[in-house]
Amino acid sequence: MEKYDKRTLDNHYRDLIPRNGFLFKFIKKDNDFIHTFVEGDFITNSITPTAMVIGKKLTDFLPMEQANRKRRFYEIAWHGETVNYEGEVGGIHYVASLNPLMVDGEVTEVIGTAIDITDKKRNENKIRELEKLAVVGELAAGIAHEIRNPLTSIIGFTQIISEKIDDATIHEYLGIMMRELDRINSIVNEFMFIAKPDETMKVSTNHINELIIHVIKFMEPQSNLKGIRIIFESQAEAITAICDHNLLKQVLINLIQNSIEATDENGEEIKITLERVSADQYAIHIRDKGTGMTSDRQQRLFEPFYTTKEKGTGLGLMICRRIIELHQGTIEFKSALGAGTEAAIRLPIKIESCE
Ligand SMILES: Nc1ncnc2c1ncn2[C@@H]1O[C@H](COP(=O)(O)OP(=O)(O)O)[C@@H](O)[C@H]1O
Ligand SMILES: [Mg+2]
Repeated sequence: MEKYDKRTLDNHYRDLIPRNGFLFKFIKKDNDFIHTFVEGDFITNSITPTAMVIGKKLTDFLPMEQANRKRRFYEIAWHGETVNYEGEVGGIHYVASLNPLMVDGEVTEVIGTAIDITDKKRNENKIRELEKLAVVGELAAGIAHEIRNPLTSIIGFTQIISEKIDDATIHEYLGIMMRELDRINSIVNEFMFIAKPDETMKVSTNHINELIIHVIKFMEPQSNLKGIRIIFESQAEAITAICDHNLLKQVLINLIQNSIEATDENGEEIKITLERVSADQYAIHIRDKGTGMTSDRQQRLFEPFYTTKEKGTGLGLMICRRIIELHQGTIEFKSALGAGTEAAIRLPIKIESCE
């Protein structure tokens, strides 16, 4: 038989402590709950050291609001019922269970166990993110269509009016209207794309070098305004590949636009490179020496509506990824705060099932 010396006993009771969690006990004394025990990895790793808990009341180590919430659960347990609840300390989410210990029908102490569920919570958030995307898609399908037709007439008539009118003040107003209408138009177009990406994809054989040069020409007026040069370095012989040239242009425009927006008016350049990485793949890199990003921000890049800009939509990169995935390619970011950002796109020369 196993001999229960202190060490094995210690180990046995350790088995009771949930992995990734903690065990605690409390009693009620003078109408307050006093913690008599707490142990577990969770506690060692968290911001609340054991010494702050043992012999202490809830209000001694928790903010008032949290303490009151827990007190209600503690109260129920003290009346002899098992209670389960979720809580959070310093960014760590846990689920706790309070089990009263009864002697002669009286609760003498309550044993609580808590398990860290932070990872699970994180996954739930991801799922919520995906659901949000699905809802956005459905909403977009309905609304974008409805807005597009009246918008086209408004833009058309605004143009006609501005051609017919000489009054400078009104011209100025019309100019503002046109700019704002353009903005609405671009948001609606982005929504249209989220709604029905596959239907809008029309592939053909394209010269990628020329496509990039075309996009750079298109973006130059905007980069010139900030004194930023866009440089194209093609390390490859001309590359021809199958793609939807409008969609691929949209990706490059979105990425260059972000790079321009991240770069100060300091004459720094944005560098674009094109290279063949294998017989059936090519890569486009877009590098800026702009603000760069923290890793937190990098993780959220592709979330719909994630933007740090006052007038941003937060849809640009989500759409880029969508388009690249439709082309059976990948898009990745490397960035360092203060140093700049590099977007790396890898695309197949031929798209499967498209000749
Ligand atoms: N080249 C870049 N440098 C720094 N931050 C960037 C860069 N590209 C994207 N970001 C960050 O990612 C966010 C999301 O970009 P995007 O999806 O294009 O939406 P938007 O440009 O409308 O904000 C931006 O608001 C910005 O914070
Ligand atoms: Mg953008």
